[in-house]
Amino acid sequence: MTDKLIIFDTTLRDGEQSPGASMTRDEKLRIARQLERLKVDVIEAGFAASSNGDFEAVQAIANAIKDSTICSLSRANDRDISRAAEALKGANSARIHTFIATSALHMEKKLRMSPEQVLEQAKLSVRFARNLVADVEFSPEDGYRSDVDFLCRVLEAVINEGATTINVPDTVGYAVPELYGNFIKTLRERVPNSDKAVWSVHCHNDLGMAVANSLAGVKIGGARQVECTINGLGERAGNCSLEEIVMAVKTRRDYFQLDMNIDPKHIVAASRMVSQTTGFVVQPNKAVVGANAFAHASGIHQDGMLKARETYEIMRAEDVGWSSNKMVLGKLSGRNAFKQRLQDLGVQMESEADTNAAFARFKELADGKSEIFDEDILALVSDDSVTHEQEQYGFVSLSQHSETGERPRASVVFTVDGKEVRGESDGNGPVDASLKAIETHVKSGAEMVLYSVNAISGSTESQGEVTVRLQNSGRVVNGVGADPDIVVASAKAYLSALSKLQSKSDRVAAQG
Ligand code: KIV
Ligand code: ZN
Repeated sequence: MTDKLIIFDTTLRDGEQSPGASMTRDEKLRIARQLERLKVDVIEAGFAASSNGDFEAVQAIANAIKDSTICSLSRANDRDISRAAEALKGANSARIHTFIATSALHMEKKLRMSPEQVLEQAKLSVRFARNLVADVEFSPEDGYRSDVDFLCRVLEAVINEGATTINVPDTVGYAVPELYGNFIKTLRERVPNSDKAVWSVHCHNDLGMAVANSLAGVKIGGARQVECTINGLGERAGNCSLEEIVMAVKTRRDYFQLDMNIDPKHIVAASRMVSQTTGFVVQPNKAVVGANAFAHASGIHQDGMLKARETYEIMRAEDVGWSSNKMVLGKLSGRNAFKQRLQDLGVQMESEADTNAAFARFKELADGKSEIFDEDILALVSDDSVTHEQEQYGFVSLSQHSETGERPRASVVFTVDGKEVRGESDGNGPVDASLKAIETHVKSGAEMVLYSVNAISGSTESQGEVTVRLQNSGRVVNGVGADPDIVVASAKAYLSALSKLQSKSDRVAAQG
């Protein structure tokens, strides 16, 4: 007999709270579709009351995703909860996740509320939410640092009000595995109606133990839901990483004895999509999704692997979506082969027009590059100029001149609301000159907080993938561009980031 472990993904909510990781509605929708493919049980799509943009993203995801439960976070007040319910109206299966802090520190210093007031507010909120949806999750924020007697009173009360999931956050990543596991166990033993709710773990990674703590919460504490994010994305050191939790429970099924709905072959595509969308690069030695996670370099390991792969491999790369079929397409490949490859890679384009745009980019790329790798295709479909919603600024063409001892000059043609303009400038290097050329027209006043270039498939023939992060009036956005010419990739990424800056709205912080 095994139990089921519920995988609750919060990449689009807690992950997005990471400074610089903000995503547009369409980007979130694309990631939500990938999470659905991955068969995530619950997708926390955002925090509907925090901004109009977040409301629209939750609403769009609730309307589009049919196989996963869609959840919105909300503070413990009627306005937030009503807003969440409103955004979730179109969902097949909707959950409201309401939270209030319960640690003495947070109640006194942040909320300026007495414990009795917090208890009352928690009860009223869960009661209010249960009148709107059947599936209500309650989180005592900073739960792990809360007084256990008080916490038991709060949790018993909210279960009585109808909370169906109780999530115990280690909000600041302070826990260690054995203590956190025992904490969950104690709560489940001491709360008299604990059997009426699913228990969930939510661990932050400040001490690098989010995954270990979550697993202890499951094994020792008996939790049956884990909250996690793709690539461990999240504020500060991040959240518990989905790919690590899933592969730990799957690979060590002998120990955990738990089943999950997850289809792991979509993990790598999800990881790549999140990394490209946010500009948060995955470290090469990251478990499961790092470029080196399955690379065996030492002679002894390679020899062992050739004789029997199990000698050094506990998981199979292809089971999590790493393709053994590296060189996939070339310039003679047709539209059907391209579409099939997208499908094999777990990529679903939003519309026929997007597929056509991606295929046109593929043909352009194949003209100049003899070997097209899976990584090239994934970069190509993540390029904002192919997939992005209506962009205010679009790249058209670029020329630049650079020579040793001379200051580089660039001329960039781009569209502003569909109308072509040309900007010219010099700069410290060709990239600098190109971005300054764009700024001669746009005059955004934005500050660049990140510029990164990544060679997609490891040779000089490779495409360069550029991420630009811009900040203006407290808003932070990412733009991504891919092209064999990194100056062009940079201009595309910059224009995309500028477009996003125009369309972003302010938001309130979830834990403010
Ligand atoms: O870390 C945390 O406490 C949270 C809650 C809002 C669930 O993310
Ligand atoms: Zn959190």
